[in-house]
Amino acid sequence: MSSIQSQADLARLFPRLADIPAEQRLDAPLHQRGILIDGEIRSWDGPCRTVLSPVHVRDDQGKLSAVEVGSFPVTTVKESLQALDAAVAAYASGTGQWPTMAVEARIAHVQDFTRRLLEQRALIVKLIMWEIGKSAADSAKEFDRTIAYIRQTIDALKELDNNNSRFQVVEETIAQVRRAPLGVVLCMGPYNYPLNETFTTLIPALIMGNVVLFKPPKFGTLLFAPILEAFRAAFPPGVVNTVYGRGEEVVPPLMASGKVNVLALIGSSRVADQLKKLHPKTNRLRAVLGLDAKNAAIVLPDADLDLAVKECVLGSLSFNGQRCTALKTLLVHRSVAGPFLDKLTEAIGQLGIGMPWEAGISITPLPDVNKPRYIAECIADAESKGAEVLNPGGGLACASLVVPAVVYPVDARMRLYREEQFGPVIPVVPFDDVGTALDYVESSDYGQQVSIFGTDPEQIARLVDPLVNQVCRVNINCQCQRGPDVFPFTGRKDSAEGTLSVSDALRAFSIRTMIAAKATSASKALLDEIVLGHKSTFINTRFIF
Ligand code: G3H
Repeated sequence: MSSIQSQADLARLFPRLADIPAEQRLDAPLHQRGILIDGEIRSWDGPCRTVLSPVHVRDDQGKLSAVEVGSFPVTTVKESLQALDAAVAAYASGTGQWPTMAVEARIAHVQDFTRRLLEQRALIVKLIMWEIGKSAADSAKEFDRTIAYIRQTIDALKELDNNNSRFQVVEETIAQVRRAPLGVVLCMGPYNYPLNETFTTLIPALIMGNVVLFKPPKFGTLLFAPILEAFRAAFPPGVVNTVYGRGEEVVPPLMASGKVNVLALIGSSRVADQLKKLHPKTNRLRAVLGLDAKNAAIVLPDADLDLAVKECVLGSLSFNGQRCTALKTLLVHRSVAGPFLDKLTEAIGQLGIGMPWEAGISITPLPDVNKPRYIAECIADAESKGAEVLNPGGGLACASLVVPAVVYPVDARMRLYREEQFGPVIPVVPFDDVGTALDYVESSDYGQQVSIFGTDPEQIARLVDPLVNQVCRVNINCQCQRGPDVFPFTGRKDSAEGTLSVSDALRAFSIRTMIAAKATSASKALLDEIVLGHKSTFINTRFIF
């Protein structure tokens, strides 16, 4: 990237149409015209939105134009309410086929869906890459991680259910406790992990017996087109329904209906706040939310700077900084700021910038057309207050490509100090006293994670103890991240509500419910007959392999 000195250099990174490797091209634009409602893929002949890729192509005159990926239906409130009605009917107040189905049978449906999803792997991976500009390798990783998540979820449910396949006798009461579904779940995922993060709520919600209304993210919409048929074929009618259209228009009526039981949203706290308030009976609404974050790295004077720089580059620039878990502020002790910044700018200079299919590429085109302007504004704001861009070419932009910028010294007067940039700009804040770094985290509106870089056990321990009460994961000498997916993923303040992990998500989308009887021989005889006669899907002692 060190060779990028002008916009013209950046423009040359975009390919001519003929330069795109054949195996990475989309055969043709994908014009989706179906929406899934009530077990039927209904054909839509109303307005559609064109999807333009963040990848641009250059013509012979050097003019850049975004590649057309396809188009999808922009449906109205009418269709989203039809989707809601289908979901409500399928749930049937908990008496529908899906919520009353035996766990083992529900697992079989999810396994069938997974097989169908795998058949579409190549196309879905390509669509992730073309729609959001994620590198081909990371797009494939997102798909595979999603499949692994589904399989881990199935295993976790088997374990949960097997543990509940027994009776307990406490204080003369015989009981069986299991987890049951909550009802209609509205699932909305984010554009940075459109497949993975959508499915980390949708799959646990489904497998626990809920029915789902699912709205694809604003970018990364078309990749669900090949999945609709898999949903249709694998689940009973009404169990999965899609909501397309403009979120601000089609989602509020769903919430205002009072018929949504769980809001599962990975997105912004502003939207979550507005949607929750629309529900007429807030006590009946459960929210499972993954929201904003401004995770900080704290680099202590005795940190291994090579390690800290490596992790900070990964943490702040993986997928161009478009991760909720990204490191979004680097707090660096002033005594090591000089060498840290030298190493940081050098490491950034080594990063590859280019098209998502190119080998060794780290920085790729951004899907949000407003993002380059936003980043430029944040940098200009910081510069006007005394900060500088330290790396050569940092902040240069051409169409959807932006060269990452290291901005130093950032302070509380600047937008970059608090705003979640969600893009390739790295604010570095010097501190003299570790208390200042702690104050930064404590006074933040967000509380997802933090990373500490240092080698002194005393100092690390003194920082960890207050920090674990500010955030929900303190990373020691490594970047912030969600995985491994079996660990709890959550946050405090405006960063999250509820906890997601393979097993926590099963809990988030269900409630404990039980049968209880006096521990008498009559009760035992009655329960025996139900169990031995396989008369109930709830009262049973079956073991799922
Ligand atoms: O956008 C937030 C994602 O949950 C981040 O996941 O840390 O595995 O990239 P990751």
